[in-house]
Amino acid sequence: MSFDFDRPIERRGTDSQKWQKYAGRDILPMWVADMDFASSPEIIAALQTRVAHGVFGYARPVKSTVDAVVEAMQTRYGWTIEPSWIVWMPGLVCTLNVTAKAFASPNEQVLTSTPVYPPFISGPKNSARESLTVPLFLNGGRWTMDFEALERAVTPRTKLFYLCNPHNPVARVYNRDELQQLGEFCIKHDLILCSDEIHCDLIIDDLPHIPTATLSPEIAARTITLMAPSKAYNIPGLGTSFAIISDPKLRATFVRACAGIVAEVTSLGFAACEAAYRDSGAWLRDLIVYLRGNRDYLTDFVARELPGVKLTAPIEATYLAWFNVEELGLKMPIDHFEKHGVGLSDGTPFGAKPGSHVRLNFGCTRATLIEGLARMKNAVQSLR
Ligand SMILES: Cc1ncc(COP(=O)(O)O)c(C=O)c1O
Repeated sequence: MSFDFDRPIERRGTDSQKWQKYAGRDILPMWVADMDFASSPEIIAALQTRVAHGVFGYARPVKSTVDAVVEAMQTRYGWTIEPSWIVWMPGLVCTLNVTAKAFASPNEQVLTSTPVYPPFISGPKNSARESLTVPLFLNGGRWTMDFEALERAVTPRTKLFYLCNPHNPVARVYNRDELQQLGEFCIKHDLILCSDEIHCDLIIDDLPHIPTATLSPEIAARTITLMAPSKAYNIPGLGTSFAIISDPKLRATFVRACAGIVAEVTSLGFAACEAAYRDSGAWLRDLIVYLRGNRDYLTDFVARELPGVKLTAPIEATYLAWFNVEELGLKMPIDHFEKHGVGLSDGTPFGAKPGSHVRLNFGCTRATLIEGLARMKNAVQSLR
C-alpha cells in the first residue's frame, strides 16, 4: 500500500465537527460520516495550487472539472452523460430538501425505506411535505426493500421516492433486479426517483455500483441522481456535490427550486473535485483495501467480543456499521457508550425504534478502531 492510512492526524483543537463534539472529554468520536484520513496527495496539491493563485471570486467549473465528472461516469459505470445534465450543489442535504420542495407540494408525500440517513425523513418535513416511511427487511441476512409494504403504503399524494444506494446506514449495495423493481414501482405510481449515490465509490465487496438512471430511458426520465466526491475522497467540508438530471423539464423544475436560496460551489471545491475524480484513483484503491481491513476486524470483534451487540448484516459498502443493541436493554444506548468513551450515532433519527440501534463510523485508523471497540467491550461488560 502506497498511502499510510495508519498515520494518526491530530484533529482535536481543529475545526472538525466530529471531534469538537467531545472536546475536553476522553470520548473517541465515531459518529458523523467523515474519515480521520488526509485527502489524496493529488487533492491536496490541487488545493495548494488553487490557493497560490490567491484570488477567490465567485466560481464556475472550468471545462476540465466537468470533463473529470463526465469521464468518471463513463469509465466507472458506462454511463454517458452530457455536461448540461450536471447541476452543481453545495451539499446533498440541501439537495434533498430542495428536491422535496421542487417535486411535492405542501401535504404531499415523499416515500423512503428506513432506517435511512436522517435528512431523508426530516428534509420533506422542513417544508411541510410529509415523510412516508416503510421499513427495509432482512432477507437471507441482507437488507432489502419491501415492495409489498411499499405498494400498501403509497397513496395518490405520494410524489417522490428517496433511494439511498449504497444505503446509509445498512451498508447495502442494491443489485440490478432490486433497482429495476424500484424503477418500475416509480413508473407505476408516477413518482420522481431521487437516487442518492453519495457512497457509490466506497464499495468494499466486489460488487458493481449501478446508477439507477442507467437502467432504462423510462427510469432515467424520472430520476435525479445525487453524487459527490465528498465521502469517498474525504472532502465533505468543502461543500461540493452535484445532481445529474437528464430530463430537461425535470432539470428546469429542480433549478427553479434552487433559485436565490442555494449557494454556489466554491473555487476550492471545484479544484478538489477535479483532482478527486481524475487523479486520485490509486489513493482510492488503497483506501478501499484499508477500509476492508477495518470492516473485517470490526465484524470479527463484534461477533466474538460484544454479546448483545449485533451487526445487522454484512457491510458491503461505506465506512458505517449498523448495530442492533436491543438485547442490552438500554433506554439511551449512546449515552451508555459515551460514558465508556465511544461516541456513536443514535439510531432513532434514522427511523429505528428508540434504544434499538446505533451506528459506528469506522473511517479511522486501525488503532482508533481497536481502541473504540475495546471501549465498547468495557461498556457491554459493565452491564453484567
Ligand atoms: C446518503 C447521504 N446523503 C447525503 C449526505 C450528506 O451530504 P452533504 O455533506 O453533501 O450535505 C450523507 C452524509 O453522510 C449521506 O450519507
